[in-house]
Amino acid sequence: MNAVPDRSQLSWQSSPQGEGSPVNSGVFSRWQLDGRVVLVTGASSGLGRHFAHLLSSAGAKVALAARRTDKLEASVRQIEALGAKARAVALDVTSASSVKGCFDELTADWGVPDVVVNNAGITVTRPMLEQTEEDWDLVMSTNLKGCWLVATEAARRMVAAGKGGAIVNVASILAERVAGCVAPYAISKAGVVQATKAMALELARHRVRVNSLLPGYIATELNREFMDSEAGEKLRARIPSRRFGELTDLDGPLLLLASDAGAAMSGACVAVDGGHLVSSL
Ligand code: NAI
Repeated sequence: MNAVPDRSQLSWQSSPQGEGSPVNSGVFSRWQLDGRVVLVTGASSGLGRHFAHLLSSAGAKVALAARRTDKLEASVRQIEALGAKARAVALDVTSASSVKGCFDELTADWGVPDVVVNNAGITVTRPMLEQTEEDWDLVMSTNLKGCWLVATEAARRMVAAGKGGAIVNVASILAERVAGCVAPYAISKAGVVQATKAMALELARHRVRVNSLLPGYIATELNREFMDSEAGEKLRARIPSRRFGELTDLDGPLLLLASDAGAAMSGACVAVDGGHLVSSL
């Protein structure tokens, strides 16, 4: 493991040039998160749980946040068993007071997070004509308002601490294309992409970077039933790579956006989808 990086280099500053080979000049060390405090929302299952383990293996102290703290505790124990630091924090991203409480608790013990992965998300899958006001509110308040509440709370604290940071919003390829029966979800994720750009614009001067990941289809609690169905199989056949994604497909892209390897990236929306977004019309 490399030495803990100077946090003042978390954002825009680049490493010294002309100091020998890429390895010696630290190109690989810039992917490390040694000692960085990372918060992952929606970490009780799927992508969020995977991200927590991944970021921990890159050296971060990881706070796993979600409503189901019992599920979080199991992951915390697994990470600690490998000698890394982790903790569970209760969080409902739809509630501003819950978001504030989560950051208060985390900041009191570990300080202001260096990296926040805004991953919590939900979908209601039924035809547009059957979607109810409650469906709309649930999806929007979790995916869009939740992303906004967590990102603004994180950014306020990063700016106040004067240390910069990185925020990664998990959107979806459905932010850019549409599919049947997930209209509120697709609309919310399009909002996450635009929120990412708006936040990146205003926060760059404070050395806070904001980027989005747009994953393609990866089997989790969110969509496993659909992906296992006949409709899911037809969708897979339309993906240029003819395969659904796997959690590990996201490892490199997430680390890039979270670490100093992506120090000059802000406002970027990175699709990780086996070419699904460029599938032929
Ligand atoms: P998942 O259902 O396994 O995980 C979602 C997580 O969000 C869970 O931990 C859940 O407890 C949490 N969550 C939901 N509402 C919450 C709330 N109010 N407060 C706090 N936590 C809450 O699903 P998955 O697939 O892991 O989804 C994670 C993110 O990835 C979501 O934002 C989803 O939209 C996005 N995504 C997933 C894709 C996939 O194919 N699985 C593709 C593209 C994006």
